[in-house]
Amino acid sequence: MKTVIVGITGGIAAYKSAQLVSDLMKKDLDVYVLMTEHAKEFIAPLTFASLTHHPVYGLFDTDQHGKIMHIELAKKADAFLIAPATANVIAKIVHGIADDMLTTTFLAATCPKLIAPAMNTHMYENPVTQNNLALCKQLGYRVIDSSTGLLACGDVGVGKLAELSDLMEEVEQALWSDHCLQGKRLVVTAGATQEALDPVRYLTNHSTGKMGFAIAKMAKRCGAEVTLIAAPNHLPPIKGVNYVPVVSALDMLEVVRTYQNQADIIVKAAAVADYRPKEVAQEKIKKETGTPEITLERNPDILKEISLNRPFPQVICGFAMETEHVMEHAKEKFEKKQVDFLVVNNLREEGAGFGVDSNRVSILSKDKVEDLKLMSKEEVGYELCKRFAKRLEEFSC
Ligand code: PMT
Repeated sequence: MKTVIVGITGGIAAYKSAQLVSDLMKKDLDVYVLMTEHAKEFIAPLTFASLTHHPVYGLFDTDQHGKIMHIELAKKADAFLIAPATANVIAKIVHGIADDMLTTTFLAATCPKLIAPAMNTHMYENPVTQNNLALCKQLGYRVIDSSTGLLACGDVGVGKLAELSDLMEEVEQALWSDHCLQGKRLVVTAGATQEALDPVRYLTNHSTGKMGFAIAKMAKRCGAEVTLIAAPNHLPPIKGVNYVPVVSALDMLEVVRTYQNQADIIVKAAAVADYRPKEVAQEKIKKETGTPEITLERNPDILKEISLNRPFPQVICGFAMETEHVMEHAKEKFEKKQVDFLVVNNLREEGAGFGVDSNRVSILSKDKVEDLKLMSKEEVGYELCKRFAKRLEEFSC
């Protein structure tokens, strides 16, 4: 189990750290909280002791063997996040001041260190704070930028603690050790394309984009430079991923073509509409004009086109959503689309396919079919990343 230290300093955003710590605990991490005396004015240490099942240690505390806790924790930590980080504590840590439990443990720790500043806009923008944040970066600490909004003091501006989901992702990224796609460029498509009938209506399907987003997230974690081309969806953006929104299959084709020359790996997890209405009415189709007959025409097969027109050796991965004769159809698609991998999911299987956070997939490649167990979409994403890295290595042999 990995150990994360969360340092909490004396700012109003300290109240948000309770949720952050609770979220970290749900990720099966061993979390310790260290607080400055000022932080304890905003929120009680008991809150964190209850959440983490560890006391909030003080500077001279020892464990049951008499070992000094600030050194023990520093040795144990796999990541150290200070959130919220006040201007005062940022100034202290960049100048090696270690006069309490938090700053002393921080100085002794050798793990990845993350700083999430939160303070009044003028304090944040003050050149002294900006210089100190620049120093943090020079020292190799990851600074998680504050966001802009209404601050507790009533001012509107920069200085809000970053979103908790971003802090979580940063911690998970810091703990992640497999960088198998470092320096590689991955393009992934996600979601259900929308094919307009008129300005109000469209044809679509049930894809939510979750599978494609999960691949984007895990590829980024594995070190890839990621472009996510997504049909309309309701998912939160992934920080650090180049996001390109599209609507229809034709839009997606155009954008995929644009990015194809800049990709080592292309993954088509999107559920692209095979057909679009031949005519798109300029005005809303009125029911008074009778039941309309809609003529459809084929959309281009994006996956096939990019696969057959690779500008240089590229890993191409398609998906197949099937409901019957699953392997038979999948093998046909694998041959027809000439991909390196085809990831097959069966809508009839519990926990697989549209909308859910899990998937049960089989991965077809040139010489084998691998049946994976039911796992989260992120885990599927990681399994794919490992296979992409291996395939890229084969290219260079
Ligand atoms: O988004 P979620 O809710 O998480 O659901 C995930 C998913 C079920 C959509 C995903 O796992 C999945 O299976 N995506 C592909 C679904 C699909 O469209 O399958 P298909 O068999 O129709 O298409 C085969 C492949 O060709 C796919 O890679 C598809 O992107 C591609 N294709 C299809 C049609 C077309 N005109 N152009 C394409 O590129």
